[in-house]
Amino acid sequence: MDLKQTKTYIIGNWKMNPASEADAEEMFDEVEDEVYKIDDEKVEVVICPPFVFLSNFDSDGKVKLGAQDIFWENSGAFTGEISADMLRRLGVRYAIIGHSERRQYLGETDEMVNLKIKAALAGKVRPILCIGETLEERQRGDTGEIIVNQVEKALTEIPEKDLIGNLVIAYEPIWAIGSGAVPSPDEVMSIGLLIKKILAKIYGNRVAAESVPILYGGSVNRDNAFDLVDKTGLSGLLIGGASLKPREFVEIVRRFAK
Ligand code: PGA
Repeated sequence: MDLKQTKTYIIGNWKMNPASEADAEEMFDEVEDEVYKIDDEKVEVVICPPFVFLSNFDSDGKVKLGAQDIFWENSGAFTGEISADMLRRLGVRYAIIGHSERRQYLGETDEMVNLKIKAALAGKVRPILCIGETLEERQRGDTGEIIVNQVEKALTEIPEKDLIGNLVIAYEPIWAIGSGAVPSPDEVMSIGLLIKKILAKIYGNRVAAESVPILYGGSVNRDNAFDLVDKTGLSGLLIGGASLKPREFVEIVRRFAK
């Protein structure tokens, strides 16, 4: 099964950075200026800043906006939460869901991830589902099982028609996030194919498997970015640390716009 899609997705996850509005605007502008110069038919560039900066940026520009999380209800007594409806009204097109840092520090479970994906789809915000194994799981040889389990649980009771053209999946091995360690392109490719197989099994055909972009995330930088897509057949990258350096981030974007 071919993994490659026509568009490459380069998504920056700023996490809880930067501290100031002024710095956020400067970073965003630097990326946007460059993205206006490239062929956006080839690359979809998405920036996921902290919630508080989302309304500072132009949501109709070439750089698409993403949130780093979403809540599963649309409104009501849910202190501290942000809904798909609120995000969409701000022009936010994407939301990262189930990032390992939220699973680890905020106790986010596969069941919550499933509810959040449903809410994002219902609210017309594209979910970027994050999955990946810990170092211990990898060393025990459990990576495949973990991936199968996370994907199946995240997509429970989600009809195929809702996913097509909406869902994005990011394979982010937890041991690779922020560590400088990166799996080989062969390993990344085999996980990409596994995810496609799981989609084909869940939906009983290849439509979802062929339409859902699969990205890689974890210690992506200007030196390894191109191979992690070119040699793996994946559809793009979810970038943390290197997305905080606009010059490096746009250098990566430019490689895929040629
Ligand atoms: P990193 O983070 O690129 O800094 O490893 C990736 C992520 O957590 O999405």
